[in-house]
Amino acid sequence: MTTALLLVLDLVAGAVVAAAWLGAGVTAAARRPRPALALCVVAVLATLVRVGLVATLAGSGWWFVQEKVTLALPLLGAAAVTAAVLAGPHLIRAAGRRRQEDPAGHPTTVVVPLLTAGYAAAAGLLVTVLIGYPATWSVALVTVALVGAAALVTWRVAAPGGPLPGMRAGVAATLAVGLVGVGLAVRPGDADGAATGGHHHGHAVTLAMLRGPAAPPVDGTVRRFTLTAQTATVTLSSGRKVAAWTFNGQIPGPPITATEGDLIEVRLGNVDIRAGVTLHWHGYDVPAGEDGVPGLTQDPVLPGQEFVYRFVANQAGTYWYHTHEVSDRGVRMGLYGTLVVTPREAPAPGLDMTVPVHTFAGTTVLGSHDRPMEHRVAPGTPVRLRLVNTDNTPHRFTLAGTPYRVVAADGSELNGPGDLTRVGLRLPAGGRYDLAYRAPDHPVALLVDNDRAGGLRLAPEPDGGPAVADDTAGWPELDLTRYGAPAATPFDGHSRFDRHFTLVLDRGFALSGARPQYAYTVNGHAFPSIPTEVVRQGDLVRLTVVNRSRDTHPWHLHGHRVLVLARDGRAPTGSALWLDTFDVRPGEVWDVAFHATNPGIWMNHCHNLSHADQGMMLHLAYEGVKP
Ligand code: C2O
Ligand code: CU
Repeated sequence: MTTALLLVLDLVAGAVVAAAWLGAGVTAAARRPRPALALCVVAVLATLVRVGLVATLAGSGWWFVQEKVTLALPLLGAAAVTAAVLAGPHLIRAAGRRRQEDPAGHPTTVVVPLLTAGYAAAAGLLVTVLIGYPATWSVALVTVALVGAAALVTWRVAAPGGPLPGMRAGVAATLAVGLVGVGLAVRPGDADGAATGGHHHGHAVTLAMLRGPAAPPVDGTVRRFTLTAQTATVTLSSGRKVAAWTFNGQIPGPPITATEGDLIEVRLGNVDIRAGVTLHWHGYDVPAGEDGVPGLTQDPVLPGQEFVYRFVANQAGTYWYHTHEVSDRGVRMGLYGTLVVTPREAPAPGLDMTVPVHTFAGTTVLGSHDRPMEHRVAPGTPVRLRLVNTDNTPHRFTLAGTPYRVVAADGSELNGPGDLTRVGLRLPAGGRYDLAYRAPDHPVALLVDNDRAGGLRLAPEPDGGPAVADDTAGWPELDLTRYGAPAATPFDGHSRFDRHFTLVLDRGFALSGARPQYAYTVNGHAFPSIPTEVVRQGDLVRLTVVNRSRDTHPWHLHGHRVLVLARDGRAPTGSALWLDTFDVRPGEVWDVAFHATNPGIWMNHCHNLSHADQGMMLHLAYEGVKP
């Protein structure tokens, strides 16, 4: 059973437990001891099932069960035992009698404990759903107090008239527990995520000083581009018009290309994007001051303003750029483009095609093609297809008609990639794959999400034939961690790490600034309250990313590519994988590492940009670097 499935089953079991205890209480109050007793039996059995599920889940890691083991199950256990001891014997006796013979007994010893067990079960479930990881002392105390309060109210309502012995003491205890819990929550100095860059004596560097060079290194030339953000109505290949936010009036924005060693200089302007724009070079390890993060490395470029980016193209491969101001909306509306750097050493001639995939108003487009795209390629031509996913969710690519290799992922070459046929390639949000093959004498088709009404057809003679005859939906998904051949890496899972950060991704109510919201959380916090990860230049840093939620989170660290050490505890058996965006699916645990060699303050976030927008981002700062 997968971790994700166990998480769901535990929620279901939790709901059954709560419903059964509450049902038992309600039927007991209605003086129907037999159904009440039956529901008690169901409740006890479901409780045991839940304990078993949690025990199994614990095998996937403490993060998945923390709030269940420390809070939900103890609370449920205490309430369930109390209910069984107080109400059980009475119900058994009453169930044995004839119906009208006897009232179902004193409510304080039957109904109240049964309902309280239900409240306890429900409270544990709500903590998982509403608060998530981790349960703190404050969450625990407030939860216990709420269950206590609900029990007291039930008692008061259920008991006929008069003062109740012990009621005052119960109220006082509940209030005290609740107040301590609230007090712990508002205690100052808990988490302040402001990017401070740590405490460092010696001279501080500011991000403004970490800029690219004005001139290219010896061999390179300067590649100049002007990108001007503007709203526009763009026409897709079918003739359909979409309202977009564009660079230079087109979607995607103008492709930026260079040869390794060139200096890329991009002048960013803005006509009428009132929210402002910036340029972030996704996957490109530029100097921090060129990273295009508004409010951190620069101010957003407002209409009429300008910003010039300069950086050396010292990573060959497939990358992309996008605005980082209101990035969820901005990228979705079209403020993105591709960045491709070819190696200085004789780039292979042939067909080199970049295929950015994006969704506009529900339609998936390749470049700006919303209809099947055809391209002529002579047999024998070496072909390289650079797939770029600029959406918030993964896409599945299939290539039919030829064996091919995945030669690069996220810009980094794979080692010893073998021939592939009839497989699906899942490309995470923000990720890139480069596919290579030699053109056969018949058509080859690339499909996105198995959609035969779209895609790309590469043929010796464009003939308008069907894109692909096969149904690609059934093709198995390639596991990149088992593809290619192992190669030496500068460090691995057995290295000594200077820092180790764990990011537990979940959902829950958290403060995003001063505003509470049902956020996408990291370790229980939402941006900007997630503590900054502080590293020192030269550190070997390990990140463990755990996904407790039911969404996929494509994790993306700026300024560094990371080496995959393990997924769910298993090291890759294929090529070393250097990625800048890796899909952490529900229930997965990824271990990655990087060398801290690019000083700055960097965003570390989910590249489902709507998740990032709702809290799932934080800063990674080098000691001694100031905003
Ligand atoms: Cu492509 Cu901060 O992201
Ligand atoms: Cu996410």
